[in-house]
Amino acid sequence: MMIGGRHFRSVWLEGGTVRVIDQTALPWKLAILDLANADAAAHAIRTMQIRGAPLIGAVAAFGLALAMRQDPAALQEAAATLRATRPTAVNLAWALDRMVARLAGLPLAGRADAAMAEATAIADEDAAMCAAIGAQGLPLLAGIAAAKGRVNVLTHCNAGWLATVDHGTALSPIYRAHDAGIDIHVWVDETRPRNQGAGLTAFELGAHGVPHTVIADNAGGHLMQHGQVDICITGADRVARSGDVANKIGTYLKALAARDNGLPFWVALPQSTLDLEIEDGVAGIEIEDRGDAEVTHMTGPDDTGALHRIRVVAPGSQAANPGFDVTPARLVTGLITERGRCEASETGLRGLYPERFAPQR
Ligand code: MRU
Repeated sequence: MMIGGRHFRSVWLEGGTVRVIDQTALPWKLAILDLANADAAAHAIRTMQIRGAPLIGAVAAFGLALAMRQDPAALQEAAATLRATRPTAVNLAWALDRMVARLAGLPLAGRADAAMAEATAIADEDAAMCAAIGAQGLPLLAGIAAAKGRVNVLTHCNAGWLATVDHGTALSPIYRAHDAGIDIHVWVDETRPRNQGAGLTAFELGAHGVPHTVIADNAGGHLMQHGQVDICITGADRVARSGDVANKIGTYLKALAARDNGLPFWVALPQSTLDLEIEDGVAGIEIEDRGDAEVTHMTGPDDTGALHRIRVVAPGSQAANPGFDVTPARLVTGLITERGRCEASETGLRGLYPERFAPQR
C-alpha cells in the first residue's frame, strides 16, 4: 500500500529488524515500531498496536522468530505467550501452529534462521492471498457497476491492508475496482468502540483516493432502506465449518439489515481465517471482552492537534464491551476467498478447500 509515495506493508523485515505500523497512532500520526523481541510482539498484539486477524497471525509468527533468536529452546513457551494475547482471530493460532510444526523437529542451532524464513513466508503468502481476494471479489462490484453505473459498498471495522500484511480482505476488491476505473463509493461504519472504521478504514481509503463517507454505526439500516447501499462486504476473524462468521461487533446487525432489504452480504477471508474444528460459530467461537474503558472513553485531537482522552459515559454507569459477534451463515450471501467465491456452508468450503477436510466416509 502506498502512503505519501512510499510502499508500506503492515509488518516487514528490514535489515533483520521486524517493523510494524503502530495503528494506535493512526490516523493522527504514521509511527513505525521496531519489535525487539517476542514480548514486544505480544504487547503489540494485546494493545492493538497491530490488529486485524491476518496481521495478528503474521506478527505472532515474527514474534516467535524473534524468540528463537534469543532462546531457541523456548519454542513452546514463547508460542504459548503469543497465543494468549487475543482469543477470537483464529489466524493467531493458525500461524503459531504452522511455526511450531516447522521448528519443533529442527536442531536448536537451526531454529532462528528457519523461523525468520517461515514468518517471512507467512507474511508473503498473506499478501498474495489478499491480492487474490481482490481479483475474486472484483466481478461482484463490476457487475453492479455495469447494471447501475455506480457501486455503493458498506463495510464494517477495518478489513483493509492495515488488518493484513497488504491489500486487505474486504477492501481488496474495492481497491481493485477503483483502480479499474469503476465508480465506487464506500460507506464506512465508524465501528465503535475503537473506531477502526472512522480511524483506519477512512485513512486507508483516503490514502488510496477511494471516495468514502464515514457513518455512525446505526446509520447503515436507514441507508439500505433508501437504496443507498448496493452490497455489504466485511472481513472475518474466524469462519466456522458451517460458514458462520465471527467479525467485529456490529457485523451481525448489518447482516440482518441487509437481509431485510434484500441486499447481498459478502464476507472476504483468506484460508488462514478458517476454523474447521468449530461447527456452530455462535456456540463455539470465543468472543473477546476488551473491558469497559474502550466504551466509557474516547481519544482524539483538539483543534491544535493535542490528543485528549475524554469520558463519554455517565459517571458511575457500567459498560460492557464484547469485541466480536457471530453472523450465522444463513445471513451471509457468500464468502470471497483467494481461491474463489463460495456459499457460506460446509459444502461451499469443501469445494474450495477439499484438502483441509478429512476424506468423507
Ligand atoms: O479488534 P480488531 O480490530 O483486531 O478486529 C478486526 C476485525 O474485526 C476485522 O474486521 C477483521 O480482522 C477483518 S480481517 C482483514
